[in-house]
Amino acid sequence: MANTLHNGAKCRIPLRNQSLTFSRHVSRSLSFLPKTRHGKQSNTSSVKASQADFPVDPSISPRVNAVKPSKTVAISDLATSLVQAGVPVIRLAAGEPDFDTPAPIAEAGINAIREGYTRYTPNAGTMELRQAICHKLKEENGINYTPDQVVVSNGAKQSLAQAVLAVCSPGDEVIIPAPFWVSYPEMARLADATPVILPTSISDNFLLDPKLLESKITERSRLLILCSPSNPTGSVYPKGLLEKIAQIVAKHPRLLVLSDEIYEHIIYAPTIHTSFASLPGMWDRTLTVNGFSKAFAMTGWRLGYIAGPKHFIAACGKIQSQFTSGASSIAQKAAVAALGLGYAGGEAVSTMVKAFRERRDFLVKSFREIDGVKISEPQGAFYLFIDFSFYYGREAEGFGKIEDSESLCRYLLDVGQVALVPGSAFGDDTCIRISYAESLTTLQAAVERIKKALIPLSSAALV
Ligand SMILES: Cc1ncc(COP(=O)(O)O)c(C=O)c1O
Repeated sequence: MANTLHNGAKCRIPLRNQSLTFSRHVSRSLSFLPKTRHGKQSNTSSVKASQADFPVDPSISPRVNAVKPSKTVAISDLATSLVQAGVPVIRLAAGEPDFDTPAPIAEAGINAIREGYTRYTPNAGTMELRQAICHKLKEENGINYTPDQVVVSNGAKQSLAQAVLAVCSPGDEVIIPAPFWVSYPEMARLADATPVILPTSISDNFLLDPKLLESKITERSRLLILCSPSNPTGSVYPKGLLEKIAQIVAKHPRLLVLSDEIYEHIIYAPTIHTSFASLPGMWDRTLTVNGFSKAFAMTGWRLGYIAGPKHFIAACGKIQSQFTSGASSIAQKAAVAALGLGYAGGEAVSTMVKAFRERRDFLVKSFREIDGVKISEPQGAFYLFIDFSFYYGREAEGFGKIEDSESLCRYLLDVGQVALVPGSAFGDDTCIRISYAESLTTLQAAVERIKKALIPLSSAALV
C-alpha cells in the first residue's frame, strides 16, 4: 500500500508491524522539518518542467522568501498524514481545544443561516458584535472603547498581522520576548520590519526581564508584542511586572504595545489576567487583540478582533477592506452569543478550563517524575513548555544522535508515536511544546509512550 504524505513523498506500509516500520521509515527519509522550512526540494521539478514548457518567471517575492512556514503546521500535517496512513500517532502538536463549540453559540450560527443572515457585513464587523465586544472589554478588562475603535477579523491571526502591517515602517524593530508564538517574527518580516528577540528563562517562568527590555529599546523600536497567557509557555504576566514594563514603554513615544490576550479566559485561579491597555497611561499606545478560537472552542469559525486608538484601528480596517472585507456574518452572530454566555464565558467556558486544569496538573506531576526535565508550571493556556535539553547529545540506538529539539521531536514521533512541537519553532531550542487540548486518557497514554521512549536515552552515553 502506498501513501502520499503532505510533502508528496510516497511511503510503503508493510502489512505486518506496520506502524513501527512506517514511522522509522518516515523519520529517516523525510527529515520533514528542514525540507518544509526551506520549501525548496518539493517545488524544484515542477518549476523546471514549467520553465521548459512556458516562459514563466517562477520567482517569489523576497518578502515571502524571508518568511518561514509554521513548524507547528508542518508537524501537525505530518502527524495527520501518519494517522491517515494507519499509524496510531497521538497528536499533541495543535493549538486547538478538543471541545465542541458550546451549543448556544453553535445554535446562534445555525439560526443565522436559517434566517438568511448570510450577506456581507460592514468591513469592521457588525455594530451588534462590536458593541458586545466594547461591553466585554469594559466589564471584564476595565478598558473603554467605542465600536469605531474595534475591528473584527477572520481570526486573531489576521488582527495581529494587520496591526503589524498598519504601524510598522520598513526597518522598524518589533520586540518579541522568546519563547514566542511562531507567527510574530514572521509578521514583522512581512511588514519589512526587524524582529528583535529577547530571551527569557525557565527559572523566571519565561517572563520578560524589564531591564533587558530597557537595554534593547532603540529609536527604531516600534512595537513590543506581549502574549499573556502565553503560547507556548502558559506563563501569565503578573500585574506588577506589566506595570514595570509599562513604565519603561512610557519613556519611548514611538513604542506601541500589541497585547495578544487570546488565552485570557484559560487561566488557573488564583492567577488573574491583566489587560495591558488598562494600566495607567497605556490606553493610547496599546492595541489589544483577542478572539473566540481558544476560550469558546471556535477555531473553525475564524473570528478575532482588535481594539485600540481610532487612528490605528482605522488603519487596520483599511488593510482589511482591501484584503478580505468583513468576517463571516454567521460567525459574527455566533460570537454575539458567545459574549452573551456571561462573565468570562460563563459555565460553558469554566467547565473547559476545569478540564484543562486537571490535565495540566496531571502532566506537570508526570513530567516532574522524568529524569532531567525542567518544568515551569503554566498558569494559563493549554500548553506545557518543557526543557528536555538533558537528552540532547545522546545517541539513540537505531536512530542516531539527539541533537536538538527537532531531532528529539522526530525521535518521539518515531519511537513513541507522539507528535509534539520542537521549541526551536518558538525561539527556544532547549524545550518542547506539549499541547494538552486532548482528553486525560489520551494524555495518560502519551505520557506512558514518552516515558518509555526516553528510558533508553537517559542511560545512553553523551556523544
Ligand atoms: C498566541 C496566539 N495568538 C493568536 C492566535 C490566532 O488565533 P485565531 O486566528 O484562531 O483567532 C493563536 C492561535 O494559535 C495563538 O496561539
